[in-house]
Amino acid sequence: MGMRAAIVYASMSGNTEEAAELVARTCEEAGLRTKLFLADEVTKRSLAGFDIVYFGSYTWGDGELPEEMRDCLRLLLKDNPNRIEQAAVFGTGDKMFVKYCRAVDEMAYHLMKHGVPLASDLLKIEQSPRSRPYVVKDWTRRVIAQLQHEGVENNGAITENQTA
Ligand SMILES: Cc1cc2nc3c(=O)[nH]c(=O)nc-3n(C[C@H](O)[C@H](O)[C@H](O)COP(=O)(O)O)c2cc1C
Repeated sequence: MGMRAAIVYASMSGNTEEAAELVARTCEEAGLRTKLFLADEVTKRSLAGFDIVYFGSYTWGDGELPEEMRDCLRLLLKDNPNRIEQAAVFGTGDKMFVKYCRAVDEMAYHLMKHGVPLASDLLKIEQSPRSRPYVVKDWTRRVIAQLQHEGVENNGAITENQTA
């Protein structure tokens, strides 16, 4: 029993890694069994059995999703019998660029296109999360609260059937 969270991330200079570690710590504090994965370490079966998968990436080039995360999503989403139950998407970027945190939108697009439900809003972080860690922690908790909320709704439906 107990819910399980995976955090899959791509990071070049460490900002997204910091955010991923904050997400992981917050999940652990909330009592979830938690595991961190680098995007290029993920296999087709890595994420089986997780209730929620957080995906995090930096943005590269001209608003691009880095190749390691693109490959990771392709591996997970194309012809893979191991379904992702639910996902949440975050990333770091720099507002100096016109396509600010575009990788976040692209990850969300690929997941939705393959029918993976997204929990909560998309989280875009300017550079390092260090100065405002609570933004990441609050968002992580909102995602978890939404998962638990769905459980409560299911219980409610069962109760209704029993009284009918
Ligand atoms: C060559 C290059 C291109 C970048 N292009 C973008 C971009 O288009 N949009 C954006 O929001 N950030 C862009 N960034 C900023 C990074 O996404 C940002 O610094 C991020 O926090 C890096 O994450 P990391 O430390 O996890 O690698 C770019 C950075 C570099 C070096």
